[in-house]
Formats: sequence, structure tokens, C-alpha cells
Amino acid sequence: MDTFDQIVERERQFLLQTYNRYPIVLTRGKGVFLYDIGDKRYLDFVSGLGVNALGHAHPRIVKAIRDQAAKLVHVSNLYYHEYQGPLAEKLCALSGLNRAFFSNSGTEAIEGSIKLARLAGHRAGGEAKCRLVALDGSYHGRTFGALSLTGQAKHRKGFEPLLEDVTFVKQNDIENLRAAVNDNTCAIVLEPIFGEGGIYECSVEFLRECRSLADRHRAALIFDEIQCGLGRTGTIFAFQSFGVTPDIVAIAKPIAAGLPLGAFISKEEFATAISPGQHGTTFGGGPLACRVALEFLAIVEDEKLLENVAKVGAYLQQQLAQLVEKRAAATGVRGRGFIQGIQLAIPARPIVDEALAEGVLFNSTQDTVVRFLPPFLMEEKHIDKGIRVLNKLLGKRRKAA
Ligand SMILES: Cc1ncc(COP(=O)(O)O)c(C=O)c1O
Repeated sequence: MDTFDQIVERERQFLLQTYNRYPIVLTRGKGVFLYDIGDKRYLDFVSGLGVNALGHAHPRIVKAIRDQAAKLVHVSNLYYHEYQGPLAEKLCALSGLNRAFFSNSGTEAIEGSIKLARLAGHRAGGEAKCRLVALDGSYHGRTFGALSLTGQAKHRKGFEPLLEDVTFVKQNDIENLRAAVNDNTCAIVLEPIFGEGGIYECSVEFLRECRSLADRHRAALIFDEIQCGLGRTGTIFAFQSFGVTPDIVAIAKPIAAGLPLGAFISKEEFATAISPGQHGTTFGGGPLACRVALEFLAIVEDEKLLENVAKVGAYLQQQLAQLVEKRAAATGVRGRGFIQGIQLAIPARPIVDEALAEGVLFNSTQDTVVRFLPPFLMEEKHIDKGIRVLNKLLGKRRKAA
């Protein structure tokens, strides 16, 4: 095997330089642990950015992949296979929505959602009903459509012009929202909990107002649950934790346990706006990814992982709150379940870098937030280890001058 230096050097020479990677090469994982090229073990609070909800090398996932890989990996969407329909049926049953479309990523799930909302908007109100409302500070992905909805200058800079028909409103500012939504709005798009944006929750009142404005103006309410959905809040869809149902929900990340798969699920009333040929993908919803996704959902149920997320997530919150009381460099805790963040008064990246040396993987977002997206299997003893390390590293620092 190549050495660490050879691996890093090859990437430096031959990859488009888009990623600022942490200095470790990972070779295998088991449960909530990952191992690097020198066989050093790391406790994983990142889950591959929310993807590895079942941890690593879950025996049932390994078995499903092996079995299906030997039978049929890909057929294209020209033909039927055994798993896409059952997966759609299961997601509809879990969400209470009516029809699913499968993509390869979260970004594409967002693209598909806004294309559907545009079609439904045009059908309801003609060409003028095309405007989108999104939130300042949000993150929806990197393609032109998804980027146009992303309310963060650092991601948009250099790529303008983007879609022009987007109005941004402040999260939880109901007056601002009311002023932005009108009869020309075809969709309101939001993350119930900002992920990349720093773990900020939408209030229930704000979500209710989005629901009622969308109804009044016959616009689609689209929830981006790509990061916060599929169990992370302790309910299978985050919207079930907030008690407000969208017309379309976009999901991805953990759905196929690490294989690329995303989806959006729509109410019938919007779903009927699209016809064959108006949207599609070569890879999306293939037999391997769909079978593994069915297995993922079955494991979440069989192993009662939502209960674990709720219980251990409450424990994590309590431990983080104690850190905030104890350490001047930590100023607040946000989020719920297994999507939480601790706000620091100092840069988060050095803390994340030093935690690596201690054998713990954390992730920072928005410069001063340490974000926790652990696998759903994580137990209190693992939280204790993470908190011990964080406490030690924060203890070495005073509040930023
Ligand atoms: C809320 C949200 N939306 C969309 C995306 C984009 O998903 P992907 O990276 O799978 O394209 C992400 C990715 O982090 C996300 O967190």
C-alpha cells in the first residue's frame, strides 16, 4: 500500500483542488469506529457528513450489498426492477406523502424538487408563478439550481449569475416571510434545521406560517431534510418532530448506508404536474442502492435506532450544556437528537484538528461551531469519550480575546 505521504502527494498533483482534507487516510471501519492507514482508531462523530447512520460495515448492509452485487447492480430507468417500487412505497408510508423520485445525491433531490414545483406553479398560475423563497444562511447544494437557493455568499461567490427568481428571508422572521411570499411564489424551500449553516432550528411558529402561506398562495412547501432527516431528530422525518408537513421533502445522505442515493417525495397534488420525459437520471434508483435503502430502513426499525437517537441525543445535549457552563470558550448548544452543534467563542477547526490526535473525529461548520452527526448506534459511553476530549481541548483555551 502507498504511504500516507504518497497518497497525499498524488491527490495534490492530480485532483482538482476543491477539498481541504484532514490529514488522515482512512482504510476501514467497524460500528462507530474508523481506522487509519497506521491502524489508529477514531471514534466517529461525523458519520461521513451524516451518511453512515448505521456506522461502518453493518453486517446486514454488507450482506445486502454482497448479495445484490452478485445479481444486479444497474439496469437504468428504462426497465423495472424489484426494489424501486417497494422503496417508494415504504417512504410514502413513513412520510404520509404520495410519490417518490430517486436521484444520486442530495443536490439532485433539491433540483428535482424545484423543477416539480415550477411545473406545478406554471400549471396553477401561468409562467409568472415561478418565484422561489429560501432562507438566509441555508445550504442546499452546489448545482446552479441548488446553489441559487443557498443563502450563503461564500458558496455563491464567483458563480453568478444564478437563478434570478429567488427571494431570501431571515430564518424565523415571520414578517419578512409574509412580505416575500405572494401569488407568484411557486415554492418555499427550507431546512427545518440548518446543517452546514451552523445547526439553527426553524421555530414551529415559522414553519406553521410557511405552511399557511404556501396553502394560501398555492405554492409548494419544500423541506430539505437531506441532513436533518431520516432519523437524526429522533423521528424518521424531521418534519414529524416539528408537526408541520411539507408538500415535498428531499432526502439523501444515510438512505442507502453510503451508496449514492437521494430522493424527493411529493404530495399527489404536486406530483401530477410532471409527465414522462420531463425529468430523469441514468443512475438514480438502481437495484443495488434501492435494496440497500430498504435494508437501512428495516435496520432502523428492527434495532429501534430512533429510540436510541432520542435517548442518547438528550444525553449528548445535557453533556454539551454542562461543557458550556464549565468552559468559557463554549457559549451555547443547538439542535436535537443526533444533529447538534456547540457554539464556540474561538475558531473550531484547531479543536477538530487536535481531537484527531486524541482519536476522535469531530467536524466544524461556520468557523466556530463543532457539529455532531454521530451514527445512530452511538451509546452514552461513546458520548462520554467525545465530551472528555472536547473538555480537555477547550480547557486549554481561554475565550477569544
Ligand atoms: C441540507 C442539505 N441540502 C443539500 C445538500 C447537498 O447534498 P449532496 O452533497 O448529497 O449533493 C446537503 C449536503 O450537505 C445538505 O446538508
